[in-house]
Amino acid sequence: MLLWRERIPDDWLPRVLNNLPAILVDHAHLERKAATTAINLEKFRELYPHVDELNTIAIEELQHFQLVLGLLKQRGIPFGQPYPSPWITGLMRSIRHGTRQQAIDHLICCAFIEGRSCEKFQILARELRRADPALAQFYSSLVESEGNHYATYLLMARRLDGAETDRRLEFYLDFEAELLRQPHSLPILH
Ligand SMILES: [Fe+2]
Ligand SMILES: [Fe+2]
Repeated sequence: MLLWRERIPDDWLPRVLNNLPAILVDHAHLERKAATTAINLEKFRELYPHVDELNTIAIEELQHFQLVLGLLKQRGIPFGQPYPSPWITGLMRSIRHGTRQQAIDHLICCAFIEGRSCEKFQILARELRRADPALAQFYSSLVESEGNHYATYLLMARRLDGAETDRRLEFYLDFEAELLRQPHSLPILH
């Protein structure tokens, strides 16, 4: 995993634990967006050789989406509108134009989202063990998959251009830390 330059803020966990129904709705949308993003990456000519890998990610994310929808149903939580995440919006707005640069930035942003999801799901698996063992188990079951997505996206960027990926990682690690420090009170995972 990357050496992040900022820790998850202390107010993140209590906010998540106090808003679990809204968090699950947000999570469902995150999985939906992760599936569509993997498919959207296939529009980049540079990524044509990776179309199978991207489809595999899209299928897994769609399965995760279905699992979260199942949890919503079980718990009687309606599938509602998502809140936009300032952190994700900030990352996405930073993507440069120009096909090749766009693909590398996009892959790095996807890797960051997957990496932070992996980290946060691990925390939730631990913290929910007593209060909500079923949900703790669910989060634990997603950790490996999101970790693999993180690694796959980063490797894909490196295969396109290793030196440029490392340069952009330098930028993105600082930028992500800056975004993470911006306070908000929304009931969202990111
Ligand atoms: Fe996922
Ligand atoms: Fe993922």
